[in-house]
Amino acid sequence: MTTVLAAPPRPATTAPALALREISKTYDGAHTVLDRISLDVPGGAFIAVMGAAGSGKSTLVHCAAGLDDPTGGEVRIADRRVNGLGEAKRTLLRQGRIGFVFQSYNLLPSLTIEENLALPLRLAGAEDDRDWLRHLAERTGIARFLARRPAELAPVLQQRAAVARAFASRPDLVVADEPTGALEPYEAAEILDLMRELVDEWAPGLLMVTRDAASASRAHATFALEGARLRPVLTTSLL
Ligand SMILES: Nc1ncnc2c1ncn2[C@@H]1O[C@H](COP(=O)(O)OP(=O)(O)OP(=O)(O)O)[C@@H](O)[C@H]1O
Ligand SMILES: [Mg+2]
Repeated sequence: MTTVLAAPPRPATTAPALALREISKTYDGAHTVLDRISLDVPGGAFIAVMGAAGSGKSTLVHCAAGLDDPTGGEVRIADRRVNGLGEAKRTLLRQGRIGFVFQSYNLLPSLTIEENLALPLRLAGAEDDRDWLRHLAERTGIARFLARRPAELAPVLQQRAAVARAFASRPDLVVADEPTGALEPYEAAEILDLMRELVDEWAPGLLMVTRDAASASRAHATFALEGARLRPVLTTSLL
């Protein structure tokens, strides 16, 4: 029988998981990729941003997740200002508060799936919580593969594992950059459904950027990134 565990609590906060306040990004002092973009991603919300190739989607995700600094504006994660933090504090914030899903899985090839799942918790200095990791693996459909290495798994299972890893540290925010770009459409649907279910159950904010309009259909709200500006496209009932 499966024991159902709730995700262990994250620190209570009423602030959005992610708040972007008028962020801009200009490369080489001339090429403006993001122009005064504001966006709130509340806990429990799945927000999709669609945009053409080169429209600035990855730049937006990198700025939102503290991997890059905007040239103007403010980024807050669970009410903590990210830009302007020193590299050590920023790394701690990323490790403890943010989960990442990329197109190419980014699982560490030399580690087993179980070790990959445990890594975010270890990096965040948390104790091994085997019950939680087991539940996470069952919930994401990869419990049978915990002893395998990533290359032994089909792409869609690798991406399931990458999604599980992104949620492992009970982050406030999960960012996903073209998470289904390397998958067949029917596999993509499976991964998007899984992310939506995990957001609904465990209530982190999820910011996904994608070129694929179909994959944005699982989101609570969708925006388009065009001409360095963000434009609302669709909001469903939640927000
Ligand atoms: N480090 C950088 N230095 C200079 N220009 C950059 C840098 N990174 C990105 N750019 C430029 O910024 C623009 C947006 O790039 P970005 O990678 O954010 O787009 P994207 O929407 O993620 O594209 P794709 O759909 O191909 O992933 C592009 O014109 C790119 O050439
Ligand atoms: Mg990109």
